[in-house]
Amino acid sequence: MPTTTPAHPDQAHRPDRDPHTPVGLPEGIDAAAEVARATAGGGEVAHYIAPLAAVDPSRFALVATELDGTEHHVGDVDEPFAIQSISKIFSLVLALRAADQEGFGVEDELWCRVGREPSGDPFNSLVQLERERGIPRNPMINAGAIVVDDVLLDHLDDPVAATRALLSELCGEEVGLDPEVLEAERGASHRNRSLAHLMADFGNLNHDLETVLDSYIGACAIRMTSRQLARAARFLANDGMDPVTGRQVLAAPLARRVNAVMLTCGTYDAAGEFAFSVGLPCKSGVAGAILAIAPDRLAACTWSPPLDGAGNSVAGRIALHELAERCGLSVF
Ligand code: DON
Repeated sequence: MPTTTPAHPDQAHRPDRDPHTPVGLPEGIDAAAEVARATAGGGEVAHYIAPLAAVDPSRFALVATELDGTEHHVGDVDEPFAIQSISKIFSLVLALRAADQEGFGVEDELWCRVGREPSGDPFNSLVQLERERGIPRNPMINAGAIVVDDVLLDHLDDPVAATRALLSELCGEEVGLDPEVLEAERGASHRNRSLAHLMADFGNLNHDLETVLDSYIGACAIRMTSRQLARAARFLANDGMDPVTGRQVLAAPLARRVNAVMLTCGTYDAAGEFAFSVGLPCKSGVAGAILAIAPDRLAACTWSPPLDGAGNSVAGRIALHELAERCGLSVF
């Protein structure tokens, strides 16, 4: 029998200062990066496709972009990577925007076909989907994003091109695809194909299955830097309005819903842990990036390839925890 209670992993990373006296972003970013970098060795880079397995695990970036465009950053913020599941946010934004333009019926249909509850299961699990008759728990897991892509095909000829166009507009730079990741994902899509077949069997896919999967895989292979992602996501911290152009990207009530789904579901079966330790809407991807939204203040992005068992960047979570604690960013 153990005689002492095992330490929680986060106890080693708690800031040893008064949490009620937040520091400024430049100081917070530097301190968060220093603590987080030391933890990256604790995980493993994704190895299901060769281009991700080959990434240098010591790469690290942390950037926070304020609504007025002021950037605070450390590390490899101009190094591109595949955004992977972070694309699920922007697919949902496009679907909600289409619904907003076409009336309540479309949004109702979307939320009948995909839920908005945390799954508590791995992001690519088939088990829950079988039990729940082909209705994915939320749009942040693979099955949910596949349904969102199916909905997008009702409204857009080429959802991946539309997602790239939206991201390019929001970050102010042309955003492309990573051809190696795209190719490798196509060859490693058995599980996503299984999810799609299961949903098709339950009547929850309307379009050709391969076309839907192409959209899903293409969105995962969009290549961006952490600096670009933080810029692109600022509208979610600004009631849906792009602070650069003043354009309403998404109606404010819908932008709040996207943030809610990110907070409760964006980091999969670790969403509770993220809410507890970071306190911000977050979305992760298996290339090691995590995007975070601090409403009315900023969007932040961190990138460190080694992942924990839930598929979230180990150092990324620590970086966001440290940043949120030190700078007083938590929504709670
Ligand atoms: O679809 C997949 O399973 C991969 N492209 C990984 C997507 C992803 O980033 C999931 N999460 N962390």
